Amino acid sequence: MVAPGHLTPQPDTALGRVHVVQHPLIEDVLAALRDKGTPSHEFRRLARRVSLLLVAEATRDLELTESVVSTPLEEARVRRLAPRIVAVPVLRAGLGMLEAFLELVPGAQVGYFGLERNEDTAVARRYYEKVPKDLSNAVVFLLDPMLATGGSAVMAIEGLRALGARRVRLLSIVAAPEGVATLARDAPETTLYTAALDRELNDRRYILPGLGDFGDRLYGT
Ligand code: PRP
Ligand code: URA
Repeated sequence: MVAPGHLTPQPDTALGRVHVVQHPLIEDVLAALRDKGTPSHEFRRLARRVSLLLVAEATRDLELTESVVSTPLEEARVRRLAPRIVAVPVLRAGLGMLEAFLELVPGAQVGYFGLERNEDTAVARRYYEKVPKDLSNAVVFLLDPMLATGGSAVMAIEGLRALGARRVRLLSIVAAPEGVATLARDAPETTLYTAALDRELNDRRYILPGLGDFGDRLYGT
């Protein structure tokens, strides 16, 4: 039997910080996400479930500010999230993580990048951008479930940095070593939170064992 994991960050010196978030609930969701027999409506629910666990971990160290509220009985000192938070899902697949993010961080602003890999070259191209203009004082959570070559993530991170972003956290569900290496080289200041670090890419730059094309499985295309 495999021992249950813990929600323990695992720093990896190759890339500033890589957190492979380990938890029995994550393993259980991943098993169903990877299964090619899982239908789209179930895949969407599973994507939301694993995203809730990732978001909880990726927000663990956010700053808090103290204030006071009146309970029905007396005043209580409370703490609330301090930083401005911006979530940026990468279309299409990142949309599968957004609802979970907003459920846990309802005050977040939301921006969008539309990126699409060329089917032959796997090189990403940007077809849409709608992101808050000044990100210099924000903690930005980039949501993209698949980190394969890393080309899409780096393109998105460069777009965020051009808008002043200094604190960028990438949340992925499955990452490949090649994508982690690309981030380490081209966006080393980025913190990565992923539910799984898989073996490798195939010759079409799909992650192995992976779960296939996330966007297609999410939307049944
Ligand atoms: C997928 C995924 C990432 C990208 C990862 O998107 O959501 O954005 O591939 O691959 P990379 O690390 O090699 O760049 P895709 O281009 O398939 O678009 P889609 O979400 O619209 O399906
Ligand atoms: N995009 C996906 O959706 N899946 C992969 O395996 C690689 C890129």
